Amino acid sequence: MKKEYVKPYIKKQTAGVMNKFGVTYNKGHREEIEGVPVAQITDKFGSPVFVLSEKIIRERYRTIYSYFSSKYPKAKMSWSYKTNYLDAVCSVLHQEGETAEVVSDFEYQKARRLGVPGNKIIYNGPYKPLESIVTALKEGAMVNLDNFDEIIKAEEAAKSLGKKFPVGIRVTMDTGVYPQWSRFGFVIENGNAFNAVKRIQHSDYLRLEGIHCHIGTFMLEPNAYKEAVKKVVQLMRKIEKEFEISVSYLDFGGGFPSRNKLKGTYLPPEVSVQPVENFIDAVADTLMEELEPKEYPEVYLETGRAIVDEAGWLITTVDAVKRLPDGTKSYIIDAGVNLLYTSAWYNYHVEIDREIRGAYENSIIYGPLCMNIDVVVESAFLPPLPKGTRLILSPMGAYNMTQWMQFIRYRPAVAMIMTDRSVEQIRRPETLQDIVGPESVPAKLKKFNFKE
Ligand SMILES: Cc1ncc(COP(=O)(O)O)c(C=O)c1O
Repeated sequence: MKKEYVKPYIKKQTAGVMNKFGVTYNKGHREEIEGVPVAQITDKFGSPVFVLSEKIIRERYRTIYSYFSSKYPKAKMSWSYKTNYLDAVCSVLHQEGETAEVVSDFEYQKARRLGVPGNKIIYNGPYKPLESIVTALKEGAMVNLDNFDEIIKAEEAAKSLGKKFPVGIRVTMDTGVYPQWSRFGFVIENGNAFNAVKRIQHSDYLRLEGIHCHIGTFMLEPNAYKEAVKKVVQLMRKIEKEFEISVSYLDFGGGFPSRNKLKGTYLPPEVSVQPVENFIDAVADTLMEELEPKEYPEVYLETGRAIVDEAGWLITTVDAVKRLPDGTKSYIIDAGVNLLYTSAWYNYHVEIDREIRGAYENSIIYGPLCMNIDVVVESAFLPPLPKGTRLILSPMGAYNMTQWMQFIRYRPAVAMIMTDRSVEQIRRPETLQDIVGPESVPAKLKKFNFKE
């Protein structure tokens, strides 16, 4: 067969040189994930397919919990549903002993449906419908209030149930990391948080039980947690003295980073992201410094991405290869930003499913959406990939399988590699029915009038 004519071009050799996106580090190939051949996974579930590892989720959780509990006697962990609320993922973590941390009535219902009792749920978030607060209080959930209007709402909820309920408050503070996450909770420094407690303690239907904060996500600076612990403990002391109560829990939220490569960082995550133990040290050591043994409250962490991100991959397939007008090599793959919300923040690690010879060059990886914004990887250093090559993108476990959207293409299957290396489908691929199910067409719109 005659070969297709390809216009010649001249390209500067840039092998090994940094470009404006930083050092490209995705050299290498991988034929299996956790001992299961990539081809076996795509044969069974198609492409694209998200893959999660039960073993890594458990290992990451155990590493974090055992280190935290070895340093602080009343260490607790609650699974941040929004990070990944697939039932199977939550079930693994509930089996490990984590309670559920939810931020909406939908997540609350999802946890309850899965079998989590109300008193094993922490209910956070800036918007909680009244009926959901009624249910949460009735079922014994730990409800952390975000603002004064919500205190009034919780009071109304408690009043409708005819008794006094314990609640927590969410607080925010300057931890030395900017921009500060100031949107959520009551400000400590200007006295707002203290006033919120005053308001709660004067209520016939509420009493303060705990203090919660979440200082940000993908935090790179452990010292921020030291500051948070110091300020929250100071607030706790002031409250306990003023109102003669004992605060029974403190909650320092999530925010520990995963080994993902943030855009704009030049060094690989192995260098730029500190180990999770340094963050736990910051929390636990500061607690031990600040507290007396008789006053140790229960202390929660709601670590999300640091547990699940590195337990996830996306297998996707090259569907077409072309060159842009400036000569840049580009690939079109079968997974786009509709599935990969986090592509806005990260330069994913890209591996290919086979060894390919040829000159490496910086390439751009586009998704399948007919949208200019559908760029999955802006710059990957890759050998010439033939159509049909599978790419394995990682880490993928955090926030993609919750923030993905129903846009242009169906959401694919999610598979879990179990600890015994069997592979289970934990979410089937979507079908047209999943999308049109909630829709309806008014009768007068049912007849079409196409022109000849
Ligand atoms: C209240 C709360 N807790 C926990 C988390 C989990 O955070 P991460 O995944 O960064 O650990 C979040 C996420 O933003 C959150 O808002």
